[in-house]
Amino acid sequence: MGSSLLSAIARRLEGKVALITRGAGGLGSVTAKLFHEHGAKVVIADIQDDQGHSICKNPSLENASFFHCDVTNESHMQNAVEKALSMHGKLDIMFNNAGIIDTIIPDILNYNVSDFERVLRVNTIGTFLGTKYAARVMKRAQQGTIINTLTRNTAVELGQYGIRVNCVSPHVFPSAMSRNVLGREDDDPLDDIYSSLKGATLKPQDMARTVLYLASDEARYVSGHNLVLDGGFTITNDGFITI
Ligand SMILES: NC(=O)c1ccc[n+]([C@@H]2O[C@H](COP(=O)([O-])OP(=O)(O)OC[C@H]3O[C@@H](n4cnc5c(N)ncnc54)[C@H](O)[C@@H]3O)[C@@H](O)[C@H]2O)c1
Repeated sequence: MGSSLLSAIARRLEGKVALITRGAGGLGSVTAKLFHEHGAKVVIADIQDDQGHSICKNPSLENASFFHCDVTNESHMQNAVEKALSMHGKLDIMFNNAGIIDTIIPDILNYNVSDFERVLRVNTIGTFLGTKYAARVMKRAQQGTIINTLTRNTAVELGQYGIRVNCVSPHVFPSAMSRNVLGREDDDPLDDIYSSLKGATLKPQDMARTVLYLASDEARYVSGHNLVLDGGFTITNDGFITI
């Protein structure tokens, strides 16, 4: 069944408003398009202004809006949430997607504090700020869903306001960032990345579909969950593999 036919049958985010950090490219833009296909009004927050303005002109994302937002900057994050609210009157879904990987094999003996802090600022402080300002709006509405890459520890605290908080933890998937970290060409599909699932490697579309599920009412009782998309990689014990 084609994806457009599928979405015509089940537009899972009809009327919902979603804010996506780093939504102008990579996984964020794939998710933004899927959310749009499922009826959501999408607000994109990103530091890449040219990509942000151009993606909003894309027919597969019409009526999306873009705001400049460095997720490590509190006033930027607050502004992005307020803009989403003033444009659409509510915020249903927050996808804290902005994140960076500095190096695939960190060498702590020679790793600079400033590099470590930069990663922490984007991945941790950025997620904290996105959650903080989205949760303020969602608390007033007594509903909402927040999806993060890697941080889920606010689920219990926000559950009392009807806000679900979940996390997606992916294996390597092709994007500008992963190709850069791995030293690959711009169009490399990364099909040779080790996978414990025969015949499959992770694609941004797999991630976007998982985020769509967590954002939708189909996951209405799912909160505090870390959904690992790694084809079983992190539970694989190579010592048991004999061939
Ligand atoms: N690609 C992978 O293999 C992989 C694996 C595990 C986790 N992830 C996570 O998935 C998410 C999406 O990754 P991707 O591979 O699509 O990334 P991507 O290719 O879109 O690259 C990351 C982008 O984040 C943006 N960014 C950096 N600092 C920012 C800031 N302060 N504020 C806003 N944006 C900022 C930059 O524009 C950068 O291009 C990230 O959180 C990443 O850590 C990716």
